[in-house]
Amino acid sequence: MRVTFMGESGRGVVGGAKPFMGARMLLCHSLLTVLLIAATASPFNNTRPGCPATCGDVSIPYPFGIGPDCSFPAPGFALSCNDTGNGVYKPFLADVEFINIDLLAAEARFYYPISWQCYNATYHNVSRRQWRLDFIGDPYRFSHYKNKFFVVGCETLAYLSGQNERDRYESGCVTVCNSSESLTNGSCSGIGCCQTSIPKGINYYDVIFDGNFNNSRALDFNPCSYALLAEADWFHFSTAYVTTSELNDTNGGRAPAVLDWAISSETCEVAKRNGTSYACHSEHSDCFNSANGPGYNCNCSRGYEGNPYLPDGCQDIDECALKYPCYGTCTNIPGDYNCTCPPGTNGDAKKGTCNPDQGSRSNPFSSVKLVIGIVASTSLALLLLLCIVVSMVYNRRKLMRIKEEYFRRHGGQLLLEEIKSKQGLAFKVFTKEELEQATNNFDKNRILGGGGHGTVYKGILNDNHAVAVKKSKVIDDHQKKEFGKEMVILSQINHKNVVKLLGCCLEVEVPMLVYEFVSNGTLFQLIHARNRTSHISLDTRLEIASQSAEALAYLHSSASPPILHGDVKSSNILLDDNYNAKVSDFGASMLVPKDETQFATLVQGTCGYLDPEYLQTCQLTDKSDVYSFGVVLLELLIRKKAVYFEGSREERSLSSSFLSAMKEDRLLQILDDHIKNEEDMELVQEVAELARRCLNVRGEDRPTMKEVADDLDQLRKFKQSSSYTENEISECYSIEKKAGIEIECGR
Ligand SMILES: *[C@@H]1O[C@H](CO)[C@@H](O)[C@H](O)[C@H]1NC(C)=O
Ligand SMILES: *[C@@H]1O[C@H](CO)[C@@H](O)[C@H](O)[C@H]1NC(C)=O
Ligand SMILES: *[C@@H]1O[C@H](CO)[C@@H](O)[C@H](O)[C@H]1NC(C)=O
Ligand SMILES: *[C@@H]1O[C@H](CO)[C@@H](O)[C@H](O)[C@H]1NC(C)=O
Ligand SMILES: *[C@@H]1O[C@H](CO)[C@@H](O)[C@H](O)[C@H]1NC(C)=O
Ligand SMILES: *[C@@H]1O[C@H](CO)[C@@H](O)[C@H](O)[C@H]1NC(C)=O
Ligand SMILES: *[C@@H]1O[C@H](CO)[C@@H](O)[C@H](O)[C@H]1NC(C)=O
Ligand SMILES: *[C@@H]1O[C@H](CO)[C@@H](O)[C@H](O)[C@H]1NC(C)=O
Ligand SMILES: *[C@@H]1O[C@H](CO)[C@@H](O)[C@H](O)[C@H]1NC(C)=O
Ligand SMILES: *[C@@H]1O[C@H](CO)[C@@H](O)[C@H](O)[C@H]1NC(C)=O
Ligand SMILES: *[C@@H]1O[C@H](CO)[C@@H](O)[C@H](O)[C@H]1NC(C)=O
Repeated sequence: MRVTFMGESGRGVVGGAKPFMGARMLLCHSLLTVLLIAATASPFNNTRPGCPATCGDVSIPYPFGIGPDCSFPAPGFALSCNDTGNGVYKPFLADVEFINIDLLAAEARFYYPISWQCYNATYHNVSRRQWRLDFIGDPYRFSHYKNKFFVVGCETLAYLSGQNERDRYESGCVTVCNSSESLTNGSCSGIGCCQTSIPKGINYYDVIFDGNFNNSRALDFNPCSYALLAEADWFHFSTAYVTTSELNDTNGGRAPAVLDWAISSETCEVAKRNGTSYACHSEHSDCFNSANGPGYNCNCSRGYEGNPYLPDGCQDIDECALKYPCYGTCTNIPGDYNCTCPPGTNGDAKKGTCNPDQGSRSNPFSSVKLVIGIVASTSLALLLLLCIVVSMVYNRRKLMRIKEEYFRRHGGQLLLEEIKSKQGLAFKVFTKEELEQATNNFDKNRILGGGGHGTVYKGILNDNHAVAVKKSKVIDDHQKKEFGKEMVILSQINHKNVVKLLGCCLEVEVPMLVYEFVSNGTLFQLIHARNRTSHISLDTRLEIASQSAEALAYLHSSASPPILHGDVKSSNILLDDNYNAKVSDFGASMLVPKDETQFATLVQGTCGYLDPEYLQTCQLTDKSDVYSFGVVLLELLIRKKAVYFEGSREERSLSSSFLSAMKEDRLLQILDDHIKNEEDMELVQEVAELARRCLNVRGEDRPTMKEVADDLDQLRKFKQSSSYTENEISECYSIEKKAGIEIECGR
């Protein structure tokens, strides 16, 4: 395990911790210290006998330890306690500093170095330092749940790559901003800051800045950009991150991130069978498999607490001393406690329902005590009940007020008025409860997909109708105002190739949208499925392309006012069972205002699909959608992702490798094998030519979406007429499949 930088300039590895800390970290830190003091004060031993329990103010519970004799005998658990200057000691694994270790959650927090890139206006060159953090061979994975990859800058594209057991992983995000005025505190969504989640099981990380994006146009303030993997709860975007070097100045150019750790790479079952290396040493401990990557962790069984990795580490909890609920006589027993009603009464003492025995004989003194007791407890109960009722009424009112406030802020009033004025609008305002019920309380298993703008869940309404419910990520106030208006217009779009918006819910903090459910996944999934062997005929490809183009052309030219999609990509084109395309995700869409000249906005797009002209002018036009659609055409022809990572660095972008192939007349080389062999190469060449026109650098030179749709429609019709017999057979085959019976299909 080590940290290395992959920069083009610079020296050394991570420096020692600087004593300077930001206010937030200080607060976090003192909170942590309090927690740690509480932890060290616990009665059970957390280390092997004779081993230090802490390093500086960080507690080191076994299986971790200072030195190999104090830790679990596997790589990654032996830490060293180094002086970071001024007699301040911190635990390190090689050069990675640990901030704290959580035994119950099987997590550890550590400092991760921030990568940076600075544009030097004097020499017009760029210096950068790009870090790689490598836990290969160690029992660590980056927590996919608590970390995010953040990029801060004004014209910056950074990639990150990693690996889990099965796949190489590549992602990235782009951030742009025109001036410091366009930045908003707390909003990391493409303007000055962008973020992306990471998948499970990643144990190494590379950060790479794209050389075509530097801060050269944003030199009125800080010329540096930063990219970091960090704990999402820690990172709160501040405009000062872009305009000053504050982000990098905290913690000595590092940010806290979270690791999930596990024992070995075996499952519980295998480790238990082996015996010798099984780490859950304590009696009364349980083993569970790690949720993030291979390996397992241990836990004390119910009723026990302590360190499950040490022999006798799990100690019985004295429930009676800890005031577990008991309204009678409490007796502690191993792993549990007995709570019995006082003699002469029976019932459930844990719930406080002890009633006098029927016909029980008791002396007058005790019955007086009992009466006093009953009177006292009844009045107490009454008082309690009153309190509960009052607070319930109060909370209910408060809840109603909050709901109304959300409704108003999300433009709900506007929406209702619009709906009133347009009778017959097939649009429903759902309640929060309806959507919770439909999605089984936003069950993780119901997640259909997620993106920059929100998470989509499958929902089943009361009438057994399947729908897709999109829960947006937090949006800023400006977007909230536009929201209601935009929804009214989207709800009126009625095109067979656009996913229909059925309704929304405005009662919650972030608005939720309800769409029709499309059953067969996305075009991205179809093209880039794991098993590339699946054959997608040229017909199907043309059909999908033509239908998506029609939908976009409709949005651009038939809808009123025109709508720009803003994030056209294969994962935003859904497919139904018959491979009919439906364009979705209008999270980035814009309505074109009447005065088009004034129109300037910044929307988040997706790497590999972004119109280069848009990056220069920050102006989203209908031709930006045409460009992105051109990339989708390429995916259909070449069957590679829009940004892919094979071969040399120059070949990262599908559009640029396609354009250079076209220039050098070697289209055939890069085409998907499945369509290479089709007889109608001419047709394929026509589609490629159309894609090339869509990808023109100058927006003016690109065709309109309407022209693209017409061209594709013609090509599709031509293909159908030229291969009539083939088509007939495939139709026959699909009937066969659906009906489940054999049909003779002769020519
Ligand atoms: C903790 O360790 C100390 C000595 O290292 C020992 O005396 C003590 O009994 C241990 N406590 C428990 C609860 O095991
Ligand atoms: C901490 O000390 C260990 C052993 O002395 C050494 O291997 C490691 O590199 C040190 N780490 C730092 C950051 O100085
Ligand atoms: C540009 O680079 C030169 C030489 O490395 C350095 O002296 C100068 O301070 C740099 N200027 C800025 C604005 O970073
Ligand atoms: C900075 O980016 C621009 C394009 O935005 C590019 O033309 C220029 O060469 C880049 N400069 C450096 C030093 O990479
Ligand atoms: C930028 O150019 C200057 C002058 O040629 C040179 O001294 C400096 O080292 C360069 N910096 C980088 C990062 O290439
Ligand atoms: C960007 O900022 C410059 C000056 O700060 C301004 O002239 C220009 O109009 C802005 N461009 C957009 C698209 O807002
Ligand atoms: C954002 O917050 C920082 C302090 O955290 C403050 O200095 C800055 O002015 C704020 N920016 C805006 C636009 O409110
Ligand atoms: C970021 O911080 C590190 C450590 O303090 C420092 O070496 C580096 O030069 C800083 N980078 C920038 C761009 O300020
Ligand atoms: C048991 O675990 C040890 C240490 O991890 C390993 O060397 C050995 O091969 C394992 N034995 C079996 C039978 O899996
Ligand atoms: C481990 O046990 C504790 C106490 O019973 C519980 O709070 C915690 O959630 C358990 N952890 C896991 C990962 O099951
Ligand atoms: C705990 O209660 C059970 C039945 O409720 C009884 O059998 C058992 O003896 C009790 N144990 C102790 C230690 O009181």
